[in-house]
Amino acid sequence: DQPRPRISVVGTGYLGATHAAAMAELGFDVVGVDVDPAKVEALSAGKVPFYEPGLPELLVRGVESGRLRFTTDLAEAAAFADVHFVCVGTPQRPGSNGADLRYVEAAFEGLAQHLTHDALLVGKSTVPVGTGARMAARVREVAPAGLRVELAWNPEFLREGKAVHDTLSPDRVVVGGASPWGDDLLRQVYARPLSEGTPFIATDLPTAELVKVSANAFLATKISFINAISQVCDKAGADVTVLSDALGHDVRIGRQFLNAGLGFGGGCLPKDIRALMHRAGELGAHSLVALMQDVDEINMWQRQRVIDMAVQACGGSVLNRRIGVLGAAFKPDTDDVRDSPALNVAAGLHLRGAQVVVYDPEAGETSRRMFPTLTYGTSTEEAVTDADVVLVLTEWPVFREADPAKLLGLTRPGATVIDARNCLPADTWRQAGWTYRGLGAAR
Ligand code: UDX
Repeated sequence: DQPRPRISVVGTGYLGATHAAAMAELGFDVVGVDVDPAKVEALSAGKVPFYEPGLPELLVRGVESGRLRFTTDLAEAAAFADVHFVCVGTPQRPGSNGADLRYVEAAFEGLAQHLTHDALLVGKSTVPVGTGARMAARVREVAPAGLRVELAWNPEFLREGKAVHDTLSPDRVVVGGASPWGDDLLRQVYARPLSEGTPFIATDLPTAELVKVSANAFLATKISFINAISQVCDKAGADVTVLSDALGHDVRIGRQFLNAGLGFGGGCLPKDIRALMHRAGELGAHSLVALMQDVDEINMWQRQRVIDMAVQACGGSVLNRRIGVLGAAFKPDTDDVRDSPALNVAAGLHLRGAQVVVYDPEAGETSRRMFPTLTYGTSTEEAVTDADVVLVLTEWPVFREADPAKLLGLTRPGATVIDARNCLPADTWRQAGWTYRGLGAAR
């Protein structure tokens, strides 16, 4: 039996922390590296610094088994591992649609500099096409002579809220730019999912980089498509949810990502389509620039559309009106509020002079940090008390399952609910006495 490769994971955000814990779960010795000592301290103590179902259990198991540890010292990781996964962030550059690659560059350079034995450096971060080749050249310049140091790209497709499942049982493993040696190392790392039938797609660097951004661009396009259709539904009195169900039966279309509503947010989709737009522009691929611009605009317009609905429900102005906002996270099962459509709408109504009370079952703390001037409640009941209008902006199960008759007893008489995720049982709410409004939901 050949010894199992030792693994480092650089960057311990959603992606890195989950990847590190999953690799330990698969039986590898893993070190996670982060520049933030607070994160390293928390993870070392078995505490996940964000909400991700199933991850705390995995982390604790890894740490307690001794297979998983964390450090701020990149040199220590470089000396320890054979396969290094770079999982650092690629945020949107301020004042530009382009991606900020400084963390990616620092990770590859820092690792390469400190290597003491042969190593495979693997990019997982989502990057503009061409980054991998640039990093490979830089790594060759910086790495100590005489070592075999190679680079490959292995994009990550995990969804927040399902990160553990997606990491342990991915839909596919895509690897770009690996030599036979690198290919073999990555097949060892992914032996378990591969043995369970997960497809392994070996390709070149640019194709691997593009698979990831194209996947996100397609998902975003699907959402903006159905949101544009939902506007037609509103004008024509049609029901977009029934329409999505009917479309979804066509296997060429599929039902997933056809939920009309407030649109997409989070740390990935919005910034990834903008980075793709930017990179496509640099490359002179103008069709994609135009397409992504429309997808982005339709998506951002959904937020305005919901604000306008709230203004209308308040009779033309929200000034001093009480608005209960249910949901702040960009989607359920996460406390992530990065580019959250829900918080954006709440903040927009607050700016227009409404008295907004926000409740989210998990994202209260992260929301408060992002928008400290908003008022946060600790329950659905508290958020809707005395409200003229209630907005459902994130489709958490507790909102879907709430008792509309009970809630109507707490609001001002004649309250309206705006179901911006089309997630409530409309008839039940109407029967309970609410004025119900959805997006593209027939009256
Ligand atoms: C996404 C991709 O799905 C994942 O593969 C990639 O690795 C990272 O980006 P994530 O950001 O976790 O994952 O969220 P996702 O579940 O894709 O949802 C994105 C946004 O789209 C959410 O704001 C969600 O509310 C919205 N959405 C999703 C819709 O508005 N309608 C839908 O039908 C589906």
